Amino acid sequence: MRGAHITGWGSALPDKIVTNDDLALAMDTSDAWIRDRTGIQERRVGGTTAGLATEAAREALERAGCAPESIDLLILATTTPDQHVPATSAVVQHKLGLRCGAFDLNAACSGFAYALVTAHALIQGGGLDRILVIGCDTLSRITDWTDRGTAILFADGGGAVVLEATEHDAILGWDLGADGAAAKILECDIGGYLTMDGKEVFRRAVRAVVSSAENAMKVAGVTASDIDWFIPHQANIRIMHSAADKVGIPHDRVVNVLSYTGNNSAGTIPLGLATAANDGRIKPGDLLLLSGFGAGMTWASVVLRWQP
Ligand code: ACO
Repeated sequence: MRGAHITGWGSALPDKIVTNDDLALAMDTSDAWIRDRTGIQERRVGGTTAGLATEAAREALERAGCAPESIDLLILATTTPDQHVPATSAVVQHKLGLRCGAFDLNAACSGFAYALVTAHALIQGGGLDRILVIGCDTLSRITDWTDRGTAILFADGGGAVVLEATEHDAILGWDLGADGAAAKILECDIGGYLTMDGKEVFRRAVRAVVSSAENAMKVAGVTASDIDWFIPHQANIRIMHSAADKVGIPHDRVVNVLSYTGNNSAGTIPLGLATAANDGRIKPGDLLLLSGFGAGMTWASVVLRWQP
């Protein structure tokens, strides 16, 4: 049976660092409160979605050793396109010199996992050989920087992978879900700012990640003790650890980039993946569990074998 595996990965963060102390100058908050309640120490802010996505994708293509013309499709998961029209993926496609189809996918912070599952299906059943999958967001542009309930969390950045056809499928199980009845707890009108019922998002996020991760592991035929690295959406360290506890994964197996990146939505999972692959934490043969949740609400999990 035809399958797919990741052969290249990359990430991109803006240069500008905004510390908790910087935020405390502009609103009634403190470094101690933000660290304690979210696990975030600083975040990266700036750039455009197309610019950061292109940077992450270039690195992924280089690592995979892929010429731009060999890519069959580009999927950009983002909730912050640079324009309503055209899709930001078209801009990225041109910047990279690709000669393939390109589309944006919006599943908020679950977007990268949704895109990975879509790409896998198009390789497995659609005959494509090589798909560039990017998750990238610039949430700073839809954040109200006077609102301490949201501004402490959100940031910019992204990551990318090249998914290629192989005989031995590395994507072992997945789960996708959504519940539009919860749309109001985290939303942003066109031209507006993100608003959030933080406590409700927190409560539902833990539940969604746990059940989605368990569904994906069941499909893959593995259990929590088989997972080498859990890469959850990076929204709040308390959500990440609480979900890990309930799934049964020790905290030292949870990839955390949140502390210095903040929450860049669809960017967090590929950023965590690229970071842990580059620093040698993730080794060939390791079993990874990626799990996202976000506005919608949406959730998505993927169990994959790291066999680059
Ligand atoms: N600085 C200082 N004090 C604050 C701040 C702040 N930034 N924010 C709230 N407080 C105060 C509150 O006023 C309250 O004070 P009170 O007890 O006197 O009334 C107290 O701190 C506790 O406030 P809570 O809202 O209960 O704080 P909580 O522990 O719930 O943390 C937070 C808030 C961090 C937003 C948390 O609810 C959370 O992380 N929720 C999930 C958010 C999330 O994951 N969002 C993204 C998901 S999807 C996506 O990424 C797009």
